[in-house]
Amino acid sequence: DKGTYPHYMLKEIDDQPTVMRKLAQTYFNDDGQVTIDDELLADLQSADRLYIVAAGTSYHAGLVGERLFERLAAVPTEAHVSSEFAYNSPILSKHPFFIFLSQSGETADSREVLTEVNAKGYHSLTITNVQNSTLSREATYTMLLNAGPEIAVASTKAYTAQIAVEAIIAKALGEATQQVAAADFDLRPQLGLVANGIQALVDQKERFEAVAKDNFVDQRDAFYIGRGIDYAVSLEASLKLKEITYIHSEGVAAGELKHGPIALIESGTPVIGIITQERTASLTRSNLAETAARGSHIMTIVTKSLAKAHDDIILEDVDEMLTPLLTIIPAQLISYYTSLLKGLDVDKPRNLAKSVTVQ
Ligand code: M6R
Repeated sequence: DKGTYPHYMLKEIDDQPTVMRKLAQTYFNDDGQVTIDDELLADLQSADRLYIVAAGTSYHAGLVGERLFERLAAVPTEAHVSSEFAYNSPILSKHPFFIFLSQSGETADSREVLTEVNAKGYHSLTITNVQNSTLSREATYTMLLNAGPEIAVASTKAYTAQIAVEAIIAKALGEATQQVAAADFDLRPQLGLVANGIQALVDQKERFEAVAKDNFVDQRDAFYIGRGIDYAVSLEASLKLKEITYIHSEGVAAGELKHGPIALIESGTPVIGIITQERTASLTRSNLAETAARGSHIMTIVTKSLAKAHDDIILEDVDEMLTPLLTIIPAQLISYYTSLLKGLDVDKPRNLAKSVTVQ
């Protein structure tokens, strides 16, 4: 039920602070310790490599997960697009463990991979929003997103919930294997900060509506750029825009611009830089400036501690590994308002289905 909301997508964007708080309750005990299933944890510990398999937005959440597992749990991790993995799989490690990310739990491309994983006797975890969905039933373990029904075709709260659950598992695994990075990662209070940070953004809706009106509605192309985890979010931000506004959009690794995509920049083309990582902030800023010199209209989404006077959208500071939970919110809202201003069907964009049950 969308209640008083004009569209499911807007309601689902607004649900995100609540979902973050709910996950902090579900997966932490009263002492503030992260808790996941013991057998799952043991299985994860015996794996020498994690394979995250997913499609669309869930794949983009997997790209963030890849970094979380490597940094917090020091376990090699690869995120793969399920339709590719199914027919062009990489050479597997000796003890692989599979993580399927799927909001619906019904994506046929992912199921194709899981069937093969089961046939080979490997163990797996499905992270999904739908209890008893096909991918949940067929995997060894299930963890729920607890995000409530997601109805809009464009996925929003499932993306942030998937990243939060990946962080929860990475922390549990890293603690079990005595990783300092995991012990130092104060996830539970961080999820509270994230919830507040998202709330601060969704409370500024008029601002994002104005950005959509002034900088996006009349554009043919738009680019999101970033490095590392910010690049992973750029891909998702760009998918959100193209899905519901039909504006051609690409997420580009900031350093790759000059190897090709910068040729597409014309006068007024929006280029949005996502900047949350101290190590690479100045490099991404230089890449933005290079597009501005070709006439682009640049905008920045930046965390407070890295912000400069001319930055546009400034986010509350959270742990550098959790910034995707905040940086995606402006992109979701800008896409929503651009679609609305163009008079399009926000919740049911053309040519797309909520759950893709054919390969
Ligand atoms: O239900 P799933 O998470 O498996 O769905 C995967 C994709 O089909 C889905 O994320 C799709 O890309 C969305 N329309 C994105 O907004």
